[in-house]
Amino acid sequence: MTEKQFISKPFSKIIENGSVSWESPSNIALIKYWGKKKDQIPENPSISFTLNNCKTITTLTYSKKEDTSKFEFDVFLDGEKKDSFKSKIEIFFKRIEAYLPFLKDYYFKIDTKNTFPHSSGIASSASGMSALALCLMSIEKELVDVTLSAAKRSFNNDYFTKKASFLARLGSGSACRSIEGDLIVWGANKTVAEASDLYGVKYPHEVHDNFKAYQDTILLVDKGEKQVSSTVGHNLMHGHPFAQNRFKQAHDNFEVLKPILQSGDLNKFIALIESEALTLHAMMMTSMPYFILMKPNTLEIINKIWQFRESTGLHVGFTLDAGANVHVLYPKNESAEILEFIKNELVAYCQNGHYICDEIGFGANQLKMNN
Ligand code: DP6
Repeated sequence: MTEKQFISKPFSKIIENGSVSWESPSNIALIKYWGKKKDQIPENPSISFTLNNCKTITTLTYSKKEDTSKFEFDVFLDGEKKDSFKSKIEIFFKRIEAYLPFLKDYYFKIDTKNTFPHSSGIASSASGMSALALCLMSIEKELVDVTLSAAKRSFNNDYFTKKASFLARLGSGSACRSIEGDLIVWGANKTVAEASDLYGVKYPHEVHDNFKAYQDTILLVDKGEKQVSSTVGHNLMHGHPFAQNRFKQAHDNFEVLKPILQSGDLNKFIALIESEALTLHAMMMTSMPYFILMKPNTLEIINKIWQFRESTGLHVGFTLDAGANVHVLYPKNESAEILEFIKNELVAYCQNGHYICDEIGFGANQLKMNN
């Protein structure tokens, strides 16, 4: 599919107003997206676990307006007006206008809330942008008269999901991996022929039962504002001395990951994801300007995980986002002992002892309006 296929056909229905609601999850990358080209095209392919509990719930209320020369909308977080969010959404609307020609015809009220605390240091852009993209797709679906057979053929579920992911990507790259679950690939690569730079797709190859219901306990080491925004971070890869090797490594890691996912080899899986996480941070430490996004407690946790793994043989590993928090990943059938270890030995390193228990999930859901 190319961008052109996501340009809407002329709408056949007129709708004055309405309301739609979606909940969409966050995701955690195993092979990381870090570095992008123009128009939110990733420099390398990435793959993530969709999460289940960390999600954004967005209700989009829309009403027709007279002046169609500009975007008009308000954003509310937990019922409180958030003008500080508007510039990001204005940029998003500009990027997607060509694909959703009704955007300037309506005034939008965006009501959003997260199931995780806003100040947790967990990025809400993946869940937030995917939830908003899905709400907009539901409006497009309303406007297209699917009783006409031609529209029915082209506006099917597959198109809806792909275009929602395509739009979400234009809001925030990683958001395109939040529409579905449980393992989502974004970025063209040899290992997954159907993967695209434009949207996320489900990982199509065999996945061993070891990865079913995989657990992610998120240790909140630092709940402050991100030290480096992802936009700034991705830009650091332009002219970075190790960039080309890193992009190649991500492609190579896809080939390494495929047999691991198939065989269920947890030791090799852990080695791959920990290497990916540390490489992401190494890229930041070796850019100009340079950043250390880990905190002392991040390293304490990593060392504790390594010691525990060594002494017990249990399959606990970690990954990191572009920040100090640690995602502790482990299989469901080892969760009793590992959760005990987390509570006894790792939670002490979390800010105010805060952590979030999550697990692999299956993507976004549309909500009934009275929810
Ligand atoms: C480190 O998706 O937040 O989490 O496209 O600029 O919004 P933008 O970036 P964003 O980058 C996320 C980077 C990462 C790795 C990953 O999720 O793959």
